[in-house]
Amino acid sequence: MRVVVVGATGLIGSRTVARLRDHGVEVVTVSRSEGVDVTTGKGLAEALRGAEVVVDVTDAPSRTDKESVEFFARATDTLVEAAATAGVEHYVVLSVVGAERLEAGYFRAKLLQEDLVRRSRIPFSSLVRATPFFESVEAMALMNTYGDGVHAAPVLMRPVSADDVASEVAHVALGVPLFGVLEIAGPEEHRLDDLTAKLLAARGDMREVVIDADAPFFGARIEERTLLPAPAAHLGHGTFAQWLAR
Ligand SMILES: NC(=O)c1ccc[n+]([C@@H]2O[C@H](COP(=O)([O-])OP(=O)(O)OC[C@H]3O[C@@H](n4cnc5c(N)ncnc54)[C@H](OP(=O)(O)O)[C@@H]3O)[C@@H](O)[C@H]2O)c1
Repeated sequence: MRVVVVGATGLIGSRTVARLRDHGVEVVTVSRSEGVDVTTGKGLAEALRGAEVVVDVTDAPSRTDKESVEFFARATDTLVEAAATAGVEHYVVLSVVGAERLEAGYFRAKLLQEDLVRRSRIPFSSLVRATPFFESVEAMALMNTYGDGVHAAPVLMRPVSADDVASEVAHVALGVPLFGVLEIAGPEEHRLDDLTAKLLAARGDMREVVIDADAPFFGARIEERTLLPAPAAHLGHGTFAQWLAR
């Protein structure tokens, strides 16, 4: 089986490539640093030649409304068309748990990406949706810093490790297409403000955590359960404490 991983040098992509190779699969890696650009199509036809499965774990250059919509619209359109032309049978795309509930440009762009994949000419598609990665708790703390305070909403979440997400994506790529959506989440439920406090303490960061119901999540307003997956979600193994310790 030949699998093309698009976004292969990224946080999830690099781990997905490793998991697939552990299974003895032939993997073709795609990223701009390897000379292939999914927004222009440069090098794509050659990379996709002979592929049965495409795994799309690309990400936009920024999370602004304009750039994320432009990226996912153009990249996904180019990629699904090239994959269909190359005879790819199964397209696996990584998206975000709760994208339909998160009202900000980045998440609308992810919904657009999902929709373009569903409506493409490729026979089978699988949609894997992940909860926020542990790394996102840190990114949120940076974005929501005002003066000496880090603002965090008192909401529930099940953040997940990049290793668990990559294992799930690789498993889906090697298996029968999902004909729908699979959610992957972390093993533990936490409150975002508690995780933020643990993160700052572990980093020796003296800033105060301000519990703020209006603190946005990458531009979107969130309620207590917005970030939680459905009860049927697959749960990973890696914990926030293990990630912090590393
Ligand atoms: N962060 C979260 O909490 C979270 C939660 C759920 C789902 N997700 C989803 O997970 C996915 C992967 O995220 P990630 O953190 O692993 O991303 P990442 O580390 O930023 O990696 C992005 C990858 O895409 C490649 N890429 C970007 N633009 C490209 C282009 N024009 N042509 C070819 N390759 C390109 C990058 O390589 P080059 O720069 O070399 O091109 C890199 O390999 C995203 O779609 C995101 O929406 C994220």
